[in-house]
Amino acid sequence: MFIVNWELLSAYLFELTTRTKMEDLQKPISSLRCTMYLFSNYGVALINSKERNNLFMSGTLVSRRALGAAFSLMLAAALFARGQQAPLSLEGKTAEQVYNNIQVLQGIPADQLNPTMRVFEGSLGVGCFFCHVSDFSKDDKETKVSARKMITMVSAINKSSFGGLPIVTCNSCHHGSSIPIALLTLPEQADMLAEREPQPALPTADQILAKYVEALGGEQAIRKVTSRLITVTQQNLSLPTVPLPALLHVEQYEKAPNLTVTVTQVPDGIAEDGFDGNTVWSQDAHGHVTEAAGVAQTRGKRAADFYECLNLKQEYTRLVVQGKQKVGEREAYLVLGYLPDDFAERLFFDTQSGLLLRKITTVRTTVGDLPTGTEYDDYRDVGDGVKLPFLIRILAVSPTISATIHVQKVQENVVIDNAKFAKAESK
Ligand code: HEC
Ligand code: HEC
Repeated sequence: MFIVNWELLSAYLFELTTRTKMEDLQKPISSLRCTMYLFSNYGVALINSKERNNLFMSGTLVSRRALGAAFSLMLAAALFARGQQAPLSLEGKTAEQVYNNIQVLQGIPADQLNPTMRVFEGSLGVGCFFCHVSDFSKDDKETKVSARKMITMVSAINKSSFGGLPIVTCNSCHHGSSIPIALLTLPEQADMLAEREPQPALPTADQILAKYVEALGGEQAIRKVTSRLITVTQQNLSLPTVPLPALLHVEQYEKAPNLTVTVTQVPDGIAEDGFDGNTVWSQDAHGHVTEAAGVAQTRGKRAADFYECLNLKQEYTRLVVQGKQKVGEREAYLVLGYLPDDFAERLFFDTQSGLLLRKITTVRTTVGDLPTGTEYDDYRDVGDGVKLPFLIRILAVSPTISATIHVQKVQENVVIDNAKFAKAESK
């Protein structure tokens, strides 16, 4: 299945943009902060920083999407305007060792700051500049100060009542609104009083997985394929006249049992990431190589399994069929998959076709779990009876880290030398 290392990319972009301690990054980022483009319903408006702050202050003038879009430009431009510096390592560092003004989140791993901020965005339904000015370490906004008090409250509740686990989260009260709406919603009377028809029993997880394998073409056909080259285009949120590539060209090479490498053409060269049988690695356009650690390593390794669809039962320690849910127009069985060294995943299988429609993974933060979804659509027979999704959507809490992937071409049983997957040498 096509691998999307979206969490890693998101972390990379976040780090490059927001680090005010890194002098080498100051220049491209601060020059970008002077002008920002905002998309409104009326078209594109170029505004200076003073006006922008006023706009962001009021919060209601610009839509959440526009805020996100503006921020993504800064992110992408920082990524592509970047010089030859080595990748910045956050490993083993706490947030306060990396950032300038951490008061209540002290002690969390530095790489957890990005998902924590994303939980704020998603829970309150706002963009970064609801709480921040262009220097993220400043406390100029009342909302940032309020957010600190809220973090302290949430952590006190979780400590005293839930053994320190993030059970009460920002979303427990906010549900996508900056001021929580506490009044209960009244149900529609017609729905409430409707006769309840007896529901048929749910299928077992084993039955759902077996139907999935059949829907993909069956085990025999699937095992006949031992390697694959998938060519895709990845569509990102982009605006005119700005250096964010609206379209990235990506090639993914896969070989049984678990070798994979993804080659992405970025404006200043080629970026690669892969699994060589032992290590999940990535190489940026300037030749720097990094190895994944922790959850990114276990996830990369699992995603590299060429026959993952046949091995789902072994992969999860426990599978629980939770019920039915809608995925777009379609009805799906929601299956919770528990993993030995990772958080549970949510898998949605089409009740009719049996195909996997959506998968949700999460990253844990002290203020709640941050979800990322991958949707699989437009399954097509690749020519030998095996079906693959040709449309993949990445769903995140904010538009800046969402994307659409279109499969252009799939070549099966191509000859790929094992050297293609070997961890690259750092330059
Ligand atoms: C609801 C308010 C809120 C939102 C929305 C929010 N932040 Fe924050 N952010 C905070 C608070 C509060 C802190 C300080 C935490 C502390 O003191 O421990 C912070 C700290 C930071 C820091 C550390 C700065 C430093 O050097 O001290 C960065 C970087 C950051 N946020 C980036 C972002 C980005 C990027 C986004 C959007 C993806 C975002 N934030 C969204 C409230 C918010
Ligand atoms: C127990 C419920 C609850 C939880 C949990 C909660 N909040 Fe709030 N929050 C509120 C309420 C209620 C208000 C409105 C207070 C008011 O109107 O004075 C509010 C207001 C805010 C505001 C000010 C909004 C504005 O427009 O001025 C921010 C920012 C905020 N919360 C951030 C957070 C963050 C970040 C978290 C998670 C760390 C969080 N909240 C968790 C209940 C909660």
